[in-house]
Amino acid sequence: MSDAVPGTGGTGPAHPVPGPGDGRALRVVAESAEGCTRCDLYRDATQVVFGEGPVPAPIMLVGEQPGDQEDKAGHPFVGPAGRILDEALAEAGIDRTTVYVTNAVKHFKWEPRGKRRIHKTPGASEVAACTYWLDREVAAVAPAVLVALGATAIKPLFEKRSTIGALRGTVQESRYGVATVVTVHPSAIVRIREADERRAALDALVADLRLAATTVAERTGA
Ligand code: URA
Repeated sequence: MSDAVPGTGGTGPAHPVPGPGDGRALRVVAESAEGCTRCDLYRDATQVVFGEGPVPAPIMLVGEQPGDQEDKAGHPFVGPAGRILDEALAEAGIDRTTVYVTNAVKHFKWEPRGKRRIHKTPGASEVAACTYWLDREVAAVAPAVLVALGATAIKPLFEKRSTIGALRGTVQESRYGVATVVTVHPSAIVRIREADERRAALDALVADLRLAATTVAERTGA
């Protein structure tokens, strides 16, 4: 995969990687991403859903890909999974407006089922293509701690293949050289119908987010 600017037929120059805290440069990158053709997902998606939040930010959350509602709204984590995430962040004492929220893949991958658009998990080549944007977000946001929400988010963050089970509850240095906490994807909690089981899963997500917050405090003294 070349580093050429998307939409230029693969012949343009690589887009510069923003420096730490350079929100202006990241906005230019985000505008370029609107024309992204690095994989085929742009064909069926409404729009690119780029990350949002302060630059720099102490915590950067990485999800999988926008869902149906995010694809229509153009913002990450605004649908059912976003509501669980908001609840967990609030319980962990983390103000969502202080964290940068993004996805490993920035176009919605789906298949039709009747009138509905059903989420499809992005493949390795789609994750690899979109890591171009994630690299630039991490460089600009310069988080003290990254949080991988679910199995797809693990892929661009770690060189070696791993699982949520293997990494959860620990703080690992990721490919970016940043302390990284791994947890479940909030949509896994959306799908739990049984109240006690759902509460337990939410508590575990909150504990992981607290680990992220205490790691920020340890690393930055803030
Ligand atoms: N799931 C994700 O991974 N990201 C979103 O933005 C919404 C749902």
